[in-house]
Amino acid sequence: MLVRDSFHSRIGFVLAAAGSAIGLGNIWGFPTNAANNGGGAFLFVYLVVTLLLALPALYAEIYIGNQAQKNPVSALGEACKNRLPRFGRFAGKAGLCGAIMMLSFYTIVAGWMLSHALSAVTAIGGLTDLSNWLASDSTLRNLLFTPVFVLLGAAIIHQGVHAGIEKWSARLMPILLLMLIGLIIYILQQDGAMAGLKQYLIPDFTQVTDPTLVISAMGQAFFSLSIGVGGMMVYGSYMQKDKDIGKLVLSIGALDTFIAFLAGLLIIPALFVAQHAGQQVFADEKLIGEGQLIFKILPTLFESMGTVGLLVATGFFSLLSIAALTSTISSTEVPVSYLVEEKSMSRKKATWLVSAVVLTASMVLIAFFEALFGIVIQVLTTIMQPLSCLFYFLVVGWIWNRGNKLTDKSRLSNDKWLWVWGNYLRYVCPILLTVVFVNVAF
Ligand code: PFF
Repeated sequence: MLVRDSFHSRIGFVLAAAGSAIGLGNIWGFPTNAANNGGGAFLFVYLVVTLLLALPALYAEIYIGNQAQKNPVSALGEACKNRLPRFGRFAGKAGLCGAIMMLSFYTIVAGWMLSHALSAVTAIGGLTDLSNWLASDSTLRNLLFTPVFVLLGAAIIHQGVHAGIEKWSARLMPILLLMLIGLIIYILQQDGAMAGLKQYLIPDFTQVTDPTLVISAMGQAFFSLSIGVGGMMVYGSYMQKDKDIGKLVLSIGALDTFIAFLAGLLIIPALFVAQHAGQQVFADEKLIGEGQLIFKILPTLFESMGTVGLLVATGFFSLLSIAALTSTISSTEVPVSYLVEEKSMSRKKATWLVSAVVLTASMVLIAFFEALFGIVIQVLTTIMQPLSCLFYFLVVGWIWNRGNKLTDKSRLSNDKWLWVWGNYLRYVCPILLTVVFVNVAF
């Protein structure tokens, strides 16, 4: 029989799950969305949506995986076996496709981070032409760096859960945190930063009901917490059964939200500093070109630091690449765990097969970049992830009765908090999610 690998400690699980959650979504996606949607108003709605919907969805996803101790396709199939067995497996497979979709664009963006890190290194070495080329936007660069990134991810994943995923996440995440704090201290001392700080921290409440803002905040929260594609479900399945999932979810949510908050604290003031220095950053209160945030504003900021700036740029883009790597690992684990457990493939073979599929998908995106890139991100974050979360709520609240403490009447009636929590997931979450989704979509 196949013996399942697992996380060796609670903290190992939290760090790996936080490693999955903390990624380009926090450091690029969150500040971009916040800058485009009124700063403080976005931050406010984001926090509300995270508390009311995203954290409960994360709980539901981890809970399903943890109870089943199986890959997402089998876990959902099992949870739905009395009522909708086929649909459960179908939803698991849809998540698996979502994971591949996520990887197809994520590895391209992560490749940009790698090339910018190398660009800073080559600038330190005086190779100006090469450095400029690495920082420029070219299809050839994408074609080179996306595969490098996919290979790096595959190299970690085929080492397994404990030796690969757990160890790397624990080593790399703390460095990212320190680096962000150092950069924030620097930026807040520059001219123009205070206007950015105000814009970020003081919400304009007239904007908080804007449907575009609300759907962006919801998509961002689901993407940032890695929910809705099965990545957290598979991590939950690698943890011993019946740990206190509520506490784990709170720790993951707090870490992820804190890093996104810090990224905003760095980037929104940085935008205002750049504008103060005469760069055109906003037009009609929107950023001019989303990519400029990381690739124009931050490099200008690093340049303003003199020679140290090149070192800081190297560190910053390397850490972003690493944060992207730990996020890539959890999505790749979704199809890998399915192939290993259901198709009896070796871990190594499954990892290389999935990596090849991801690479093919990203090459298609690179080839049809203008037409596909934005749409794939949009479909995944604003349609597929919210719908999966709705399904998770329905599964834990309604479809899955046996062995599920959230709907087990005898357990619910003995524990007041469990009763409140069970009913919140059963009634409030699906209704709230549907209302937001329908209102915004139509
Ligand atoms: N949460 C990651 C980020 O914020 O960059 C992205 C992500 C990772 C989404 C893993 C989905 C997933 F399964």
